[in-house]
Amino acid sequence: MVYTGRPRHRRTIAVDEEILNSVERSSDSNTRLIAARHLSLLTSMHNMRERLWNVIVTAGNTIRDKAPIFQRTWQSWCNKPALREQQCYLHLAVPSSSPPSYVRMRTTVKHHVAGTVERHYNMRNYKMMWVFMVLAAFLLVLQYHMSGLWVAGGSNVVGNSFGVLDISTDDIIRSAAEKLHLENLISTNIDYKLMADLVLQLGRELVALGCSEMAALSCTGPPLSPLLPPLYIITPTYRRPEQIPELTRMAQTLMHVKNVHWLVIEDAKNQTRMVTELLERTGITFDHLIAPMPDIYKTRKGPKPRGVSNRNRGLQWLRANATKGVFYFADDDNTYDIRLFEEIRTTKRVAMWPVGLCTKTGLSSPVVIDGKFSGFYDGWVAGRKFPVDMAGFAVSVNFFLQRPNAQMPYRPGFEEDGFLKSLAPFTPSEIELKADNCTKILVWHTQTKKNEPSTALNLVKYANTNLIDLKRLIV
Ligand code: UGA
Ligand code: MN
Repeated sequence: MVYTGRPRHRRTIAVDEEILNSVERSSDSNTRLIAARHLSLLTSMHNMRERLWNVIVTAGNTIRDKAPIFQRTWQSWCNKPALREQQCYLHLAVPSSSPPSYVRMRTTVKHHVAGTVERHYNMRNYKMMWVFMVLAAFLLVLQYHMSGLWVAGGSNVVGNSFGVLDISTDDIIRSAAEKLHLENLISTNIDYKLMADLVLQLGRELVALGCSEMAALSCTGPPLSPLLPPLYIITPTYRRPEQIPELTRMAQTLMHVKNVHWLVIEDAKNQTRMVTELLERTGITFDHLIAPMPDIYKTRKGPKPRGVSNRNRGLQWLRANATKGVFYFADDDNTYDIRLFEEIRTTKRVAMWPVGLCTKTGLSSPVVIDGKFSGFYDGWVAGRKFPVDMAGFAVSVNFFLQRPNAQMPYRPGFEEDGFLKSLAPFTPSEIELKADNCTKILVWHTQTKKNEPSTALNLVKYANTNLIDLKRLIV
């Protein structure tokens, strides 16, 4: 079929399968974590997960540029031209065999971005593959019931008297993630879409074969699931010796969070390549933006409005791109307990919770009496209506979008107060209390000791050594 008119991407999808005797483990922990996010797409399918015992997703990309024409229609996508080919793999383990066998499905997707495009699906061995898949699934269920006990990857999976395994979601994910194998991962954003495609195809085929229950479970969509409100994390950052370590720490926290979109906004005129590379490695969906502090504030003596241009840029991005979910201003140098993010997710309008290590007072928190908000506790009130820390509140996207003038003022010390006031109509009594009625500390306002930029390297003495490369990694 040939379509003319609105540009769209063409995808040619080919699926085939093969039986493998083993799936290697990836030795690269980052890679495994990235793949674990892909995996969660499939492992969140409760019943199906149990039936298939173990689902191992691998994603690989072979990218070939075939045409010089390129239109940037897929924002989070590539910056190279035209036709691209990708492969991703879904491994389904056949249990109770030692070493375990795996059915490997390979999907090849060709993306073509151009003004005039064609779209067609060419499923090689498609029917056969799905028949095989379903047979394999039934075989698994059969073996499952017959064996009564299956030890997944040597972990603590226990059988009960009915032969039904008592495997927790975490165990399954952990066990499967252990066995992830990722080949030539290039773009995580594309991989999400590939995985979604793959899962969708699985669902369609199962419907065609009458397995509607499994099909429904397989059609859970891409990792930004419609069932879970997305979390937008707005993180200001700027180039300094601590930048990469801070962002590494934070990234590896966010890698544990589902349905998260990270807006990393640099106070800089250009994006820092090291930051982009770090973000790409994480597997977190992200946008890497820039928003330099205006010169009038930068050159001004005294306290500066740190992170304000960045956060306002993040808010601008939300107005243009987000429709639901919750956002949170999370500075790059704080310490976040991953439990915080699930608390945040249920925010209806504005939620607040305690923050540890703020000023001499030691913490900043709403004061709660009998489960009700009764005031604020903060070391620096200064006439603020909302004497809170930046890390101590989150806002619903919807609530924010209904307030077109909401933004953060360039007023050092009054950024939080100014922003929360700009959300009017909104009063402190409407605050949703999180962290068990503000009895837990799930975020800490940590500060890393500032380091001086490193001294210059003696290029003569250390020519042709690893130090040349290492020096490029630090400030
Ligand atoms: C405290 C508040 O928690 C910040 O939200 C507030 O912006 C800041 O005070 C302020 O009022 O100036 P603090 O830990 O003292 O934060 O400040 P930083 O951590 O140095 O900066 C806050 C955020 O802005 C960080 O994410 C940092 O990376 C970023 N930042 C800082 C910039 O983008 N540009 C800068 O020049 C400095
Ligand atoms: Mn800070």
